[in-house]
Amino acid sequence: MKSEIRNSKSAIRNSLPIGIFDSGVGGLTVYRALHERLPDEHFVYLGDTARVPYGTKSLATVERYATENARFLESHGIKLLVVACNTASALALPAIRDAVSVDVVGVIHPGARAAVESSNGKRIGVIGTEATVQSEAYRRSISSLDPAAVVIERACPLFVSLAEEGWAETEVARSVAEHYLRDLRKSDLGALVLGCTHYPILRGVISDAVGRDIPLIDSGDATADEVQSLLEIRGLSRPRAPNADRVRLVCDDLDHFYVTDAAQRFAKVAERFLGAAPTVLEAVEVWGHDELRTY
Ligand code: DGL
Repeated sequence: MKSEIRNSKSAIRNSLPIGIFDSGVGGLTVYRALHERLPDEHFVYLGDTARVPYGTKSLATVERYATENARFLESHGIKLLVVACNTASALALPAIRDAVSVDVVGVIHPGARAAVESSNGKRIGVIGTEATVQSEAYRRSISSLDPAAVVIERACPLFVSLAEEGWAETEVARSVAEHYLRDLRKSDLGALVLGCTHYPILRGVISDAVGRDIPLIDSGDATADEVQSLLEIRGLSRPRAPNADRVRLVCDDLDHFYVTDAAQRFAKVAERFLGAAPTVLEAVEVWGHDELRTY
């Protein structure tokens, strides 16, 4: 009897969605990577579009926003939380882990590990928001894996707007990338980490600017690997549904999307990033959710 109750409790827990949050729309690149890698899982995504960008804000503010987002998602019933935002992962992971009781995966460590693995002992470049670069979170994470690694970090703030405007393939994007990455091109890099949610959208111009032979590390892909193994280790994977022949499309009605403002703009940019707008999209307020928490 006891083991039946235990089995049905774990079946309910395993069928819960994976929570993902970002400061806005950029985390959809991480959602796409997770969706591709884990087609049986369901996702609930929160984009804090009312308070984006995080990349220019202070540690205290990013911690506050990030913990509010995490609690909001936990109060909606999730089995695991992915912090898709590099800035929130770099600045606020300890605060987020203190705020919720589910496992939390950030994008920094998986990205750092993938970079160390592909760099062949050569220098590792990291590009991200001002806050991510200032935090030196990637440098610390890379050093913990390879103390001899040389890390060069650069902030590339304009890339975020270029991606959201749909200007990824334009001459403007090309010249901004050349300007930001000129010195990295001369640095004989073994790998370059795309340390911001939006940068995979600009992969083409970034690769041209830094040198096409330099491996680009997409933290989203690396994080999907980490989430997949964590689900397996914890026995948290969602069982395959009997009608699993249904093809899972990004943004279908099994994945739920929340934003804190401007849902229409989110849908438009989502279409640009993923080729589809969310089927289920709702505008919400995320602050004041402490009282909704269930332990
Ligand atoms: N999501 C942020 C990141 O990955 C970029 C946008 C922002 O500054 O909030 O760092």
